[in-house]
Amino acid sequence: MSIKVEKITDPLVLGEGPHWDEKQQALFFVSIHECTIHRYLPATGEHTKTKLDGRVGFIVPVEGAINQFVVGVERRFLVVEWDGQEGSQTRIVKDLGEVDQDVPSTRINDGKADPRGRLFAGTMGAEDPPGSFQMDKGSFYRIDSRGLVKVCSPISLSNGLAWDVQKGAMYYIDSLEYKIRRYDYNIETGEISNKTYIFDIKEKGQEGIPDGMTIDTDGNIWLAVFQGSCVLKIDPNTGKILQKVPIPAQQVTSVTFGGPNYDILFVTTASMNIGGVQEPPCGSTFMVTGLGVKGYPNVNFKLP
Ligand code: BGC
Ligand code: CA
Repeated sequence: MSIKVEKITDPLVLGEGPHWDEKQQALFFVSIHECTIHRYLPATGEHTKTKLDGRVGFIVPVEGAINQFVVGVERRFLVVEWDGQEGSQTRIVKDLGEVDQDVPSTRINDGKADPRGRLFAGTMGAEDPPGSFQMDKGSFYRIDSRGLVKVCSPISLSNGLAWDVQKGAMYYIDSLEYKIRRYDYNIETGEISNKTYIFDIKEKGQEGIPDGMTIDTDGNIWLAVFQGSCVLKIDPNTGKILQKVPIPAQQVTSVTFGGPNYDILFVTTASMNIGGVQEPPCGSTFMVTGLGVKGYPNVNFKLP
């Protein structure tokens, strides 16, 4: 089977945070600067969205609830209810707290639930103009039954997250390090320790910034490369690039596996004006088939 890259949505400014929802057989994602949350149904091709009250960094469904999602809006973690219909009214079900109160120039960026449903998400400093970043203003946070806690700081641009339970590892990206971190991960407690780096994009001579990522069932990482027009498959044991999948958009922001068999790679992109206008299909969401690998089911957030 050959690799096929297909555009599945119209362009967005900053598509991000794809999450495959098994229950609805739907892809949820966000467009950060447009303050919107999105749903795409592959079965019908229907794409709907609605607006929230602020820039939204990620969306993850809440376990056991119908139409409820944890989202990062500006510096707040909120549980919102959305019926998935175009433009429909959302309702704030719960406010899980605000972070970075001492640094009001930050906003929540990427976030994901670990294999047990704890939420991890981090913040980033102001980006003004697009592509120019305030350094070291963000932090990395966790929400579980023990509440909302800061896991590490400072972070410049909190991004990709992936876990490998068999290896007891968590992978994490602060984009402005241009590297992928690896931590030992205690799945029982959610604690991270022993930071190392397993991949350095500059060392490989690959252009761009490491952004979102996911992992396949062989334990390899799939990395979205912002301003690199590609997704990279990386062996975390050796740091080797195993495969490069070209995407017809420069600003590739994030990836997740989904579809009925978890063998479709969904890819979000952006069309921000960084040194030039990004013409369509830049900013669209894409679907990559024929990769010959599978991902794990995306984990929902377990509301403490
Ligand atoms: C951020 C963008 C940023 C990009 C750079 C994304 O996660 O949301 O604002 O430009 O990372 O890689
Ligand atoms: Ca991102």
